[in-house]
Amino acid sequence: MQSDQHKSILWLLTTVLLFLLILLVGIKEYSSSGDSDVAGETIWSHEELALLRSLALSTGNKPHSFEQQTNKFASSPAAAAFGHRLFFDTDLSRSGATACASCHHPDKAFTDGLVHPATHLQPAPRNTPTLVGAAHSPWQFWDGRSDSLWSQALEALESPLDHGMSRSEVIQLIKKKYRTDYEALFGMLPASDDSAAIDRAFTNVGKAIGAYIARLEPAPGRFDRYVAGLVGSLDSAAPVERLTRTEIAGLKLFISDEKGQCVSCHNGPLFTNNEFKSINVPDFSGSDRGRLAGAEQVLRNAFNCLGEFSDSEEESCSDLIYIKQNDPELTAAFKVPTLRNLSFTAPYMHSGLFPRLADVLRYYNHPLQRAGDHLDIVPLDMFPHELEQLEAFLMTLDGGINVDLKWLKPPDNGRQQFSNSEVLRATQAGFQRPEAPQVVVISSQH
Ligand code: HEC
Ligand code: HEC
Repeated sequence: MQSDQHKSILWLLTTVLLFLLILLVGIKEYSSSGDSDVAGETIWSHEELALLRSLALSTGNKPHSFEQQTNKFASSPAAAAFGHRLFFDTDLSRSGATACASCHHPDKAFTDGLVHPATHLQPAPRNTPTLVGAAHSPWQFWDGRSDSLWSQALEALESPLDHGMSRSEVIQLIKKKYRTDYEALFGMLPASDDSAAIDRAFTNVGKAIGAYIARLEPAPGRFDRYVAGLVGSLDSAAPVERLTRTEIAGLKLFISDEKGQCVSCHNGPLFTNNEFKSINVPDFSGSDRGRLAGAEQVLRNAFNCLGEFSDSEEESCSDLIYIKQNDPELTAAFKVPTLRNLSFTAPYMHSGLFPRLADVLRYYNHPLQRAGDHLDIVPLDMFPHELEQLEAFLMTLDGGINVDLKWLKPPDNGRQQFSNSEVLRATQAGFQRPEAPQVVVISSQH
């Protein structure tokens, strides 16, 4: 009897040990396949592969540059070099203290890390968008009230919220400081009392700045290299990129028809369909009319695609000619932003409301819904781990800026409020994540 008991205990122990052994081998097997996915390991359907290819940079995709349509200097290196000097020059402001680069810092993918610039209190404060890839958008500003980089620059120069200069003050400064640069490109500077000629010279200044910004192309990130590996367009010398299982799961959610539907708005290599949509993100004034006002303004703008200062033929202004306006759905609709370089562009949304990406995704899970509001998204209702997967995927789009380092440094001229070493350190280190700024997150439940 005793030996029988011993036998069954021995059996039990052996079984348990065997079970543990199998479990251990299983775990080891799982972890040695790692949390990573070699290109090709995940099975993608033909449709999914075609979609991935359309999202990736460096798979033969060449996003269209809208700046070239209206700015004949858009691809001139000399115009870009002149624009580069103007972009960093604080003399180009009434206060003598503001340059474009004061709010668009190269080390933050040309944003400023603030909820909104301190000067931008009227009419509704907005967050500073990235300029990387901006040339690929037909509309500038969150409400698209400008339809080119050059006309956007002109507004920034004149706006009291930014540089606060008059057109003739700008031209005075160009005469004093940049006569050679200007005249080599655009011919003689105008007399101080010729206002029509001053307008034209002022336009040229904007076109030089536009040519500079048009160089700021996004660089491929890990996602792009992963897709290049999948579709076989990888440079043979380049190592195969792996994405982790978490990142792959996030990518699947991002492109899924049922779950994320993110690609319905965030598509193409810049991850935007260039439209204006309402996702009801609260702003600080509660009165931002968004695209409804932006559409009216761009049609009135003397520097638009159809205006006398544009270098385009009328037929290439189809975005402006067929513009959607006076539609209640445009109330508080904002430009669908690019999702490239998100690590460097916090805080997020037109109002800079969300300090972290996790806050953005939590918002998508339960967006603000008020009776009578038009909303272009449906609540995601995802599990927390799915939101984490989405966030992990979004980080694979970080690639920085695909441009010679010289364009990211302040040029060697004029007064500089930016030290070369600061910008260099940040850009050479491959950009650091900025500290999440402190803002109050408004609950989306009310
Ligand atoms: C005081 C801070 C500040 C200064 C100075 C400034 N900007 Fe901006 N910039 C912003 C903010 C904020 C926005 C968004 C405003 C909006 O949408 O209404 C913006 C928007 C833009 C955009 C539109 C990008 C997009 O994707 O919609 C471009 C291009 C731009 N700025 C270029 C410039 C240039 C060029 C200069 C210098 C001539 C300049 N900015 C000066 C803060 C600034
Ligand atoms: C109906 C169109 C639409 C869909 C679908 C959509 N977005 Fe957006 N997204 C927008 C718009 C519009 C904004 C800017 C809103 C604002 O500033 O008020 C935005 C902003 C963002 C931002 C902030 C970017 C920045 O620089 O401020 C992130 C991140 C983002 N979306 C990710 C996603 C993800 C992930 C999904 C899928 C779960 C998604 N979006 C689905 C339209 C959309």
